[in-house]
Amino acid sequence: MHAFVAGHPINHSKSPLIHGTWLKRHGLHGTYRAIDVAPEDFEKFMASLKNGDSHYVGGNITIPHKERAFALADEVDETADYIGAANTLWREHGRLRATNTDAYGFAANLDEKRPGWQDLETAVVYGAGGASRAVIVALLERGFRNIHVLNRTVEKAKILADRFGAHVEPHPLDALPELLTGAGLFVNTTSLGLKDQSVPQIDFSGMREGALVTDIVYVPLKTAFILQAEAQGIATADGLGMLLHQAVPGFEKWFGIRPVVDEALRHVVETAMGVR
Ligand code: ATR
Repeated sequence: MHAFVAGHPINHSKSPLIHGTWLKRHGLHGTYRAIDVAPEDFEKFMASLKNGDSHYVGGNITIPHKERAFALADEVDETADYIGAANTLWREHGRLRATNTDAYGFAANLDEKRPGWQDLETAVVYGAGGASRAVIVALLERGFRNIHVLNRTVEKAKILADRFGAHVEPHPLDALPELLTGAGLFVNTTSLGLKDQSVPQIDFSGMREGALVTDIVYVPLKTAFILQAEAQGIATADGLGMLLHQAVPGFEKWFGIRPVVDEALRHVVETAMGVR
């Protein structure tokens, strides 16, 4: 059985290491490889998956192809439809099916790190891109009814509010201090902190008792948002867990065994990242 992750660029993907570790652990003879697919070749790539020429049982799709994978798959499930993007494909009865496991990965990571997080009631989501959609879907599925989305380009936050309904409210960035007062959960979904961009100083100290700050960025593991929250004594959850957990449903579909995210897996990935 052969699976893949397709993206552009793809050389930094941790997915081959995650799935490779699980394949070894379970003594399976399958493979999982990274494939660089340029945007102009993506349609052809999807066609070869659909007609079986490529012999893959399925795979992961990453940046920048998630929206087109969603559009080109034969069948998409409800979650992929809700998010408007797909990150996991598999062949079933000759059809190419698609789902999105990012919302699952986000929620499963917090379930592991901070059981009961869904009772934090008010969430502040920074960013309104593709990753933000998956986070909002996870929050809605877990019963959050006060989801504030802030974005530099407020129009994009408004588009998300229109898409996801009355529980999601759009705001400009300068509303942040006020919104954080009494909030339970802060999620960074922006790429800020990657590539040495400067990150605004955020005061998390007015958040409610038991509040949690999380970041979907995991390079570095301790992002500027996580460090700032830690310095103020607020509980945090890093983004690596989301990456590990989002891989679970795909592996199960392609290889037939539901793998476990544990300390040993995290250790392997952190070592490869040079943080161990
Ligand atoms: P992804 O799919 O990873 O979410 P994306 O769709 O490109 O990526 O979204 C990136 C997010 O980071 C957006 O919310 C973007 O804000 P804009 O919509 O205003 O562009 C946010 N972002 C990126 N760089 C930023 C910066 N320097 N300051 C503030 N927000 C930034």
